Amino acid sequence: MSDVHVTAPAKINLTLEVLGKRADGYHDLASILVAVDLADELTLEDADDLTLECNVPEFAGSNNLAYLAADRLREEVGKSNGVRISLQKEIPAAAGLGGGSSDAAAVLTGLNRLWGLGMTVDDLTPIAAELGSDVPFFLHGGTAMMQGRGEIVRPLPAADIKHALILCPDIPVENKTATLFGLLRPQASTRGALTRKLEARIRGGGDVPAQFLYNRFDDVAAEAYPALSEYRVALASMGATEIHLCGAGPSLFTMVSRREVGTALELLLRHRCGWRAHLVSPTPPVD
Ligand code: C5P
Repeated sequence: MSDVHVTAPAKINLTLEVLGKRADGYHDLASILVAVDLADELTLEDADDLTLECNVPEFAGSNNLAYLAADRLREEVGKSNGVRISLQKEIPAAAGLGGGSSDAAAVLTGLNRLWGLGMTVDDLTPIAAELGSDVPFFLHGGTAMMQGRGEIVRPLPAADIKHALILCPDIPVENKTATLFGLLRPQASTRGALTRKLEARIRGGGDVPAQFLYNRFDDVAAEAYPALSEYRVALASMGATEIHLCGAGPSLFTMVSRREVGTALELLLRHRCGWRAHLVSPTPPVD
């Protein structure tokens, strides 16, 4: 095999509970994530050197987490050959959708195949966790429960969700994820009960009612992203009742039961407001 193609999906968090701060400075989480069909595409080809090119030039090169993933894996397995990574970026960056983490996981999964390493997801998980807290989830994809700082991932049956509309405001925040964690008040921590309830419900084949959706960062979103209220108001004026952050934001999502309604909202947000909006559906686990 001389090249491998890998799709790297975005994710939304149905729940995102922050249980408390750990001795290592990270936070323990309980979250149910769903991979969705807004995706980056990667091609990995045998080459002498390790390189990463991208349709968005600012993401090309050796600072990209996908490049670091390849470098880390070849160090782990004692390989000296390179790989040419071509990344087609579709997932908005720094949006709370896990794009960079997903690309890194896709590189680990793809190189495992390209190089015939025969590593299991469990073998790849410690490397993924070193690269970033969301990376282990993307080794699995589909629907999964995430715990610890992100390194404990339990695959679940597919959540019974039809579509979600994701709105991606362009509100840059420096050192975003760490900043958002830093804004949380410890006394407002939850204990993971809602996530466990939703886990049981999904395992039992139940649906995902709006009252199960929760994101701890929703509490601090207005403070972190003062411009976000305009986007919430626009979604609400179009009939969205439950609106949540994706991960640490600033993207927002709302569930949509009918594709036609979702498509209409997507078009309105794109063309009337000039915003980035994506109608998405869940995707199956990585095979
Ligand atoms: O792991 P990752 O590089 O994505 O994390 C970015 C930052 O987010 C960390 O440096 C940390 O400040 C914060 N974080 C956290 N607890 C987690 C995940 C991330 O405090 N479980």
